Amino acid sequence: MQTHVRDIMDAIYKKYGYDFRQYSEAHITRRIMNRVRLSGLEDISYVRSEVMNNETFASQLLQDLSITVTEMFRDPGFYKSLRENVIPLLKTYPFIKIWHAGCSTGEEVYSVAILMQEEGLYGRTTIYATDFNQQALNKAKGGIFSNGLMKEYTTNYQLSGGKESFLNYYTSDYDHVIMNQSLKRNIVWANHNLVTDSVFAEAHLILCRNVLIYFETELQNKVQKIFFDSLINGGILCLGAKEGLRFSDLRDEYTELDKQHRIFKKKY
Ligand SMILES: C[S@@+](CC[C@H](N)C(=O)[O-])C[C@H]1O[C@@H](n2cnc3c(N)ncnc32)[C@H](O)[C@@H]1O
Repeated sequence: MQTHVRDIMDAIYKKYGYDFRQYSEAHITRRIMNRVRLSGLEDISYVRSEVMNNETFASQLLQDLSITVTEMFRDPGFYKSLRENVIPLLKTYPFIKIWHAGCSTGEEVYSVAILMQEEGLYGRTTIYATDFNQQALNKAKGGIFSNGLMKEYTTNYQLSGGKESFLNYYTSDYDHVIMNQSLKRNIVWANHNLVTDSVFAEAHLILCRNVLIYFETELQNKVQKIFFDSLINGGILCLGAKEGLRFSDLRDEYTELDKQHRIFKKKY
């Protein structure tokens, strides 16, 4: 890492406890430079002292470093595959524990809750939805989203093999929609940092999509080990479209259930 970037990451870690030191340098540098521009700073050399002395700046930078872009039924083909290839396995368990790591503002979590409900499994499912960004988690808990996005989400839902009318899952006012209370009942929201916190034992299904892409290989391996230790034998790991196990130390410990949609099954 460049010296300035490393110094800034060290300062964030020392002062706030967030460890970005093994995130991809290209990602970190892009986000810092963006914050430099938005704050009107002359250049990157001023960032470290802003982080140490200006809490507003530091909190904005922390938000910048946590990219929260997400959507409901993101990559509909992935959800279709989940329905076709994973649900039949989950149906064999008396109760189901799902860990949704890096859940951001919750759109994917509600998508999984809907899917489980349609498959008649939600009553015996608990979804642990975690992220290290408390602001994002608070929004997720509220389950309030912009009405303007619902057209796109409805299309995603239909493409994913949705069985109902998507309108059944929320109520809307002029600008916003609120997700049904019945979808929230089995979701446990928790602050969890993949870099510094530990495993969530005995998960049947782990979804961690579009998170590891921001990590250097060594950190990806460390987090993959946490997922491996958290899954039951035969448990399922779902990664994002640009992520995989090809460079993971644990690649031989999984079989590929769906190569295109990055769905893996832990070997017995
Ligand atoms: C691009 S979003 C992905 C959201 C969702 N999984 C999806 O695919 O639509 C990445 C999320 O990972 C979270 N994240 C990044 N680093 C993390 C860490 N060390 N621990 C927990 N969450 C992290 C960010 O806060 C952000 O909400």
